[in-house]
Amino acid sequence: MNVKTGCDIVEISRIEAMLKQSELLGKIFHPSELERFTAEHLAGIFAVKESAFKALGLSPNSWLKLEVNYTPEGKPKIIFSNDISLVGVMSWDCSISHDGGFAYAVVVVLQD
Ligand SMILES: CC(C)(COP(=O)(O)OP(=O)(O)OC[C@H]1O[C@@H](n2cnc3c(N)ncnc32)[C@H](O)[C@@H]1OP(=O)(O)O)[C@@H](O)C(=O)NCCC(=O)NCCS
Repeated sequence: MNVKTGCDIVEISRIEAMLKQSELLGKIFHPSELERFTAEHLAGIFAVKESAFKALGLSPNSWLKLEVNYTPEGKPKIIFSNDISLVGVMSWDCSISHDGGFAYAVVVVLQD
Protein backbone atom coordinates (compact mmCIF):
# COMPACT_ATOMS: atom_id res chain seq x y z
CA MET A 1 0.00 0.00 0.00
CA ASN A 2 1.18 3.54 -0.75
CA VAL A 3 0.48 6.57 1.39
CA LYS A 4 0.03 9.84 -0.52
CA THR A 5 -0.17 13.19 1.21
CA GLY A 6 -0.94 16.74 0.19
CA CYS A 7 -0.97 19.92 2.24
CA ASP A 8 -1.79 23.54 1.56
CA ILE A 9 -1.77 26.84 3.40
CA VAL A 10 -4.04 29.75 2.39
CA GLU A 11 -4.01 33.35 3.51
CA ILE A 12 -7.57 34.00 4.72
CA SER A 13 -7.49 37.59 3.38
CA ARG A 14 -7.11 36.11 -0.12
CA ILE A 15 -10.44 34.37 0.27
CA GLU A 16 -11.99 37.46 1.90
CA ALA A 17 -11.19 39.33 -1.33
CA MET A 18 -13.06 36.65 -3.32
CA LEU A 19 -16.28 36.80 -1.32
CA LYS A 20 -17.93 39.37 -3.58
CA GLN A 21 -16.91 37.59 -6.79
CA SER A 22 -19.84 35.23 -7.11
CA GLU A 23 -18.81 33.91 -10.53
CA LEU A 24 -15.36 32.98 -9.24
CA LEU A 25 -16.80 31.46 -6.06
CA GLY A 26 -19.09 29.28 -8.21
CA LYS A 27 -16.07 27.91 -10.09
CA ILE A 28 -14.35 26.87 -6.88
CA PHE A 29 -17.03 25.99 -4.34
CA HIS A 30 -20.15 23.83 -4.45
CA PRO A 31 -23.35 25.56 -3.23
CA SER A 32 -23.30 23.38 -0.10
CA GLU A 33 -19.78 24.59 0.68
CA LEU A 34 -20.93 28.21 0.50
CA GLU A 35 -23.60 27.74 3.17
CA ARG A 36 -21.15 28.84 5.90
CA PHE A 37 -20.10 32.01 4.16
CA THR A 38 -17.03 33.16 6.09
CA ALA A 39 -13.57 33.69 4.66
CA GLU A 40 -11.98 31.56 7.40
CA HIS A 41 -14.23 28.58 6.77
CA LEU A 42 -13.98 28.82 2.97
CA ALA A 43 -10.20 29.19 3.17
CA GLY A 44 -10.11 25.82 4.95
CA ILE A 45 -12.18 24.19 2.22
CA PHE A 46 -9.98 25.82 -0.43
CA ALA A 47 -6.90 24.40 1.31
CA VAL A 48 -8.45 20.90 1.43
CA LYS A 49 -9.07 21.03 -2.32
CA GLU A 50 -5.51 22.13 -3.10
CA SER A 51 -4.19 19.43 -0.77
CA ALA A 52 -6.27 16.77 -2.53
CA PHE A 53 -4.94 17.92 -5.92
CA LYS A 54 -1.44 17.30 -4.57
CA ALA A 55 -2.19 13.97 -2.91
CA LEU A 56 -3.96 12.56 -5.98
CA GLY A 57 -2.01 14.39 -8.71
CA LEU A 58 -5.18 16.08 -10.02
CA SER A 59 -5.16 19.06 -12.34
CA PRO A 60 -5.30 22.37 -10.44
CA ASN A 61 -8.64 23.11 -12.13
CA SER A 62 -10.45 20.23 -10.46
CA TRP A 63 -12.20 22.45 -7.89
CA LEU A 64 -15.72 21.14 -8.43
CA LYS A 65 -14.62 17.52 -8.73
CA LEU A 66 -14.54 17.30 -4.99
CA GLU A 67 -16.89 18.57 -2.36
CA VAL A 68 -16.07 19.13 1.29
CA ASN A 69 -18.88 18.04 3.61
CA TYR A 70 -18.94 17.78 7.39
CA THR A 71 -19.83 15.03 9.84
CA PRO A 72 -22.34 15.93 12.59
CA GLU A 73 -19.30 16.38 14.88
CA GLY A 74 -17.83 19.01 12.54
CA LYS A 75 -15.09 16.91 11.01
CA PRO A 76 -14.52 17.72 7.31
CA LYS A 77 -14.71 14.93 4.75
CA ILE A 78 -14.15 14.85 0.99
CA ILE A 79 -16.73 13.56 -1.49
CA PHE A 80 -15.20 12.95 -4.95
CA SER A 81 -17.28 13.27 -8.11
CA ASN A 82 -17.68 10.26 -10.39
CA ASP A 83 -15.43 11.69 -13.11
CA ILE A 84 -12.30 11.37 -10.96
CA SER A 85 -10.45 8.09 -11.35
CA LEU A 86 -10.04 6.62 -7.90
CA VAL A 87 -8.57 3.32 -9.14
CA GLY A 88 -6.58 1.77 -6.31
CA VAL A 89 -7.64 4.42 -3.82
CA MET A 90 -8.79 2.62 -0.70
CA SER A 91 -9.33 5.41 1.76
CA TRP A 92 -8.68 9.09 2.37
CA ASP A 93 -8.96 11.67 5.12
CA CYS A 94 -8.51 15.40 5.56
CA SER A 95 -8.04 17.87 8.38
CA ILE A 96 -8.28 21.66 8.62
CA SER A 97 -6.87 24.23 11.02
CA HIS A 98 -6.84 28.03 11.05
CA ASP A 99 -4.75 30.48 13.01
CA GLY A 100 -2.90 33.76 12.60
CA GLY A 101 -4.73 34.71 9.39
CA PHE A 102 -4.01 31.44 7.65
CA ALA A 103 -5.97 28.25 6.98
CA TYR A 104 -4.09 25.01 6.65
CA ALA A 105 -5.23 21.58 5.45
CA VAL A 106 -3.76 18.15 5.01
CA VAL A 107 -5.10 15.26 2.94
CA VAL A 108 -3.91 11.66 3.26
CA VAL A 109 -4.75 8.99 0.68
CA LEU A 110 -4.16 5.25 1.00
CA GLN A 111 -3.60 3.66 -2.40
CA ASP A 112 -3.24 0.00 -3.25
C1 LIG B 1 -12.73 20.91 16.93
C2 LIG B 1 -11.30 21.30 17.27
C3 LIG B 1 -10.41 20.46 16.40
C4 LIG B 1 -11.09 22.78 16.95
O1 LIG B 1 -9.72 23.14 17.18
P1 LIG B 1 -9.27 24.66 17.22
O2 LIG B 1 -7.83 24.70 17.54
O3 LIG B 1 -10.20 25.47 18.06
O4 LIG B 1 -9.51 25.20 15.75
P2 LIG B 1 -8.79 24.82 14.40
O5 LIG B 1 -8.78 26.05 13.56
O6 LIG B 1 -7.48 24.12 14.59
O7 LIG B 1 -9.77 23.73 13.78
C5 LIG B 1 -11.04 24.10 13.32
C6 LIG B 1 -11.40 23.08 12.27
O8 LIG B 1 -11.37 21.79 12.86
C7 LIG B 1 -12.23 20.94 12.12
N1 LIG B 1 -13.06 20.20 13.06
C8 LIG B 1 -14.10 20.63 13.79
N2 LIG B 1 -14.61 19.61 14.52
C9 LIG B 1 -13.85 18.53 14.24
C10 LIG B 1 -13.88 17.17 14.70
N3 LIG B 1 -14.79 16.73 15.57
N4 LIG B 1 -12.95 16.30 14.23
C11 LIG B 1 -12.03 16.73 13.33
N5 LIG B 1 -11.96 18.00 12.85
C12 LIG B 1 -12.85 18.88 13.32
C13 LIG B 1 -13.05 21.84 11.20
O9 LIG B 1 -12.54 21.67 9.89
C14 LIG B 1 -12.80 23.23 11.73
O10 LIG B 1 -12.80 24.26 10.79
P3 LIG B 1 -14.02 24.51 9.79
O11 LIG B 1 -15.27 24.12 10.52
O12 LIG B 1 -13.95 25.95 9.42
O13 LIG B 1 -13.75 23.61 8.61
C15 LIG B 1 -11.01 21.09 18.74
O14 LIG B 1 -12.12 21.47 19.47
C16 LIG B 1 -10.60 19.67 19.05
O15 LIG B 1 -9.40 19.38 19.10
N6 LIG B 1 -11.53 18.76 19.23
C17 LIG B 1 -11.20 17.39 19.46
C18 LIG B 1 -11.96 16.53 18.53
C19 LIG B 1 -13.40 16.68 18.85
O16 LIG B 1 -13.95 17.66 18.45
N7 LIG B 1 -13.97 15.72 19.55
C20 LIG B 1 -15.31 15.63 19.91
C21 LIG B 1 -16.20 16.76 19.58
S1 LIG B 1 -17.86 16.38 19.93
